[in-house]
Amino acid sequence: EVAHPFYGSGHQAGIRTEPQRYTVFMSYDLTTSVARDVEVLLARWSAAIAQLAKGLTVGSVEPHRPDAVGVDSGEALDLGPEGLTVTIGFGPGLFDERYGLAARRPRHLAELPAMPSDQLQPALTGGDLSLQACADDPQVAYHAIRTLTRMAKGTATTRWTVTGFGRASAGPTQQTPRNLMGFKDGTRNIVDDADYERWVWAGSDDQPWMTGGSYLVARKIHIATETWDTDRISDQNAVVGRTKVEGAPLTGSREHDVPDFEARDASGQPVIPATSHVALAAHENNGGVKILRRGYNYTEGIDALGQIDAGLLFLAYMRDPQQFITLQTKLGRVDRLNEYIAHIGSAVFAVPPAARQGSYIGAELF
Ligand code: HEM
Repeated sequence: EVAHPFYGSGHQAGIRTEPQRYTVFMSYDLTTSVARDVEVLLARWSAAIAQLAKGLTVGSVEPHRPDAVGVDSGEALDLGPEGLTVTIGFGPGLFDERYGLAARRPRHLAELPAMPSDQLQPALTGGDLSLQACADDPQVAYHAIRTLTRMAKGTATTRWTVTGFGRASAGPTQQTPRNLMGFKDGTRNIVDDADYERWVWAGSDDQPWMTGGSYLVARKIHIATETWDTDRISDQNAVVGRTKVEGAPLTGSREHDVPDFEARDASGQPVIPATSHVALAAHENNGGVKILRRGYNYTEGIDALGQIDAGLLFLAYMRDPQQFITLQTKLGRVDRLNEYIAHIGSAVFAVPPAARQGSYIGAELF
């Protein structure tokens, strides 16, 4: 049974951890005006996550006295750790005038600017704190978020949430899964230590307390599956720049063949169309910029018109959110995927390093 320890000296679990099968992502608004309340919440969350990651409850399910109330809600009893990780993030609002923490604001933490094609719904944006719970059993991830949300009472309230039912990225030893467009997602992602250092972990240009931390950009992206499902396969391949079943670049035949963005067909056109998703997003065409994608498929059932309401919870980690802004500013303008997708939710968080045993996430702030 896989269990990821919460305490450590490096990075929080849930970033480089091989993606588990399910997620529950939750963003919170701080409602307290007292920094000490925030500190206590982070200390309690940290201690609770350490327990949950071992497959333990937080407090008793059945109190000894029949007239007492149980502390843990109980739905994860007997399920085990299931690879649970809960990753804590800090939104820009934690560093506003309310808590006196402005001098410690992570260097690159600011609300994302408006970007082309944004269709953001205010109720699905922002947040002062975030929790990303991932596990191989959806009930274990849900129980973690439910438990931690109950603990926030009086200090923070829920803002927006997405439940992801299938992973849409792969670790180095995993088979690449598929997103709801039916294409393999996560084929070309960050794997090397050098790329993690260069593109994922906060650098020496950041606040000293952010060393080993990262930044999370979360986007809820709706996919118009009804429209996509009527598109002919040759066009779907041209939109993505890869083949559907194998996931090969249009210049290759196997999934992990390196795409050749220079290759031309007989009429002189690029074989991988310049407006395809991968041509626009690839590091070769973006001054080397890379991000770590760790997304999940989601569904919200059906919408008011009876259409399938589904998409991608895009979760990406990077050393500076500017990496995402650079890519999305371009994708939002010309990506052929835009005909089928809409960015409806958005938030950015600084993700501190792991907490050492006996301490808690964010202790250096207070
Ligand atoms: C690659 C799908 C949104 C950045 C890919 C691939 C697919 C895909 C199928 C090819 C397989 C792979 O290498 O992983 C989607 C879908 C999206 C979406 C369905 C929205 C619903 C985004 C966004 C960004 C992004 C918003 C960043 C702003 C990338 C990058 C690659 C990639 C960097 C790797 C390109 C390469 O190096 O070849 N995506 N994507 N994607 N995507 Fe997306």
